[in-house]
Amino acid sequence: MKILTVDGLQQLISRVGIDAFFDLTRDRLEQDFGRWHHFQKSPRHAVHYPYGVIELMPCADDEFYAFKYVNGHPYNTQQGRLCVIGLGLLADAKSGYPLLFSEMTLLTAIRTAAVAALGAKYLARADCQHLAVIGNGAQSEFQVTMLRRQLPLTTVSFFDPDGRAMEKFANNLGSADLSLKACDSIQDAVSGADLIVTATAAKQANDLIEPKWLAPGVHIHAMGGDCPGKTELGQRLLGQSKIVVEYLPQSLLEGEMQNMAPDNLYGELWQLVDGSLPGRENDTEITLFDSVGFALEDYSILRLVLELLESVDYGDLCLTQPMVPPLADPKNLYGLLSG
Ligand SMILES: NC(=O)c1ccc[n+]([C@@H]2O[C@H](COP(=O)([O-])OP(=O)(O)OC[C@H]3O[C@@H](n4cnc5c(N)ncnc54)[C@H](O)[C@@H]3O)[C@@H](O)[C@H]2O)c1
Repeated sequence: MKILTVDGLQQLISRVGIDAFFDLTRDRLEQDFGRWHHFQKSPRHAVHYPYGVIELMPCADDEFYAFKYVNGHPYNTQQGRLCVIGLGLLADAKSGYPLLFSEMTLLTAIRTAAVAALGAKYLARADCQHLAVIGNGAQSEFQVTMLRRQLPLTTVSFFDPDGRAMEKFANNLGSADLSLKACDSIQDAVSGADLIVTATAAKQANDLIEPKWLAPGVHIHAMGGDCPGKTELGQRLLGQSKIVVEYLPQSLLEGEMQNMAPDNLYGELWQLVDGSLPGRENDTEITLFDSVGFALEDYSILRLVLELLESVDYGDLCLTQPMVPPLADPKNLYGLLSG
């Protein structure tokens, strides 16, 4: 089985090129959302604690079975730990044998940004220039880097109550040829924005954005609310928005949609990708991608990574270890212990 560590993934992305890796991920997600009915899907399995959540996220087609172990612990950063970490496994569906075990903290941030770009492709105005980012933690720069590959962004306004997070955000994006505008409030940050990403971590139901602060035709990518009772937007804004989700059975439990009746939903992302539903229909509607993160996105990026590691160019970047006993007689498992 191939094992990809954080170090191996950093080298892989550096060798492929960060822009090329981001584009490959977004394209792969688009292909896989476009073949939605090939997948066996279910809401993720979540265990909730007062301080966070630990989840298992499976998704499979006839060839591969994938799952991710992931958490969400908003208070972790106060102890110097990441809010979200992940580990993933991809297996051969025909034998059940594992093929790849990978770090998925970085891969989660990348696939989460890729699905944001995909949503923006169908729901944002194609001429979006001004992005506002609310919440400047671990995910935030990935969102900007991926979205600017999709849209002609020139300006990024940003706000986080943690000044150090804002400083880090500005430093990381300082050389990105974007006009960066640090703001004192959410209202200031979203004022005049064409596109808004909410990437806040707080274990509560929030109402971060007042509809009256928004310009007509804005697209909102709400990705920080992803647990029961952990949401970012209020009902007034939701009620005025054209809402798209990844997978309704999961979003009703975890997304902004938990505060709305199901008939307020416009559609699922795959319907925009396969053309069965139009995305944005005019320049004035407010569109909202209520993204909670779906296991298909983990399947897509794990499969992409496996394919790269199977090529001669990148095969040296992972470890290969026997995690399944190599037996001449598959019925003689005991022989491994009896000598
Ligand atoms: N949809 C997905 O697929 C997906 C994937 C990964 C993470 N997430 C979620 O995205 C959120 C952000 O993740 P992260 O890894 O960046 O977390 P993080 O803890 O690194 O950063 C979150 C930031 O939000 C800020 N914040 C909290 N309340 C705020 C408010 N009212 N206004 C502005 N900023 C505020 C915090 O100060 C912090 O800097 C988390 O809730 C996480 O669960 C979703």
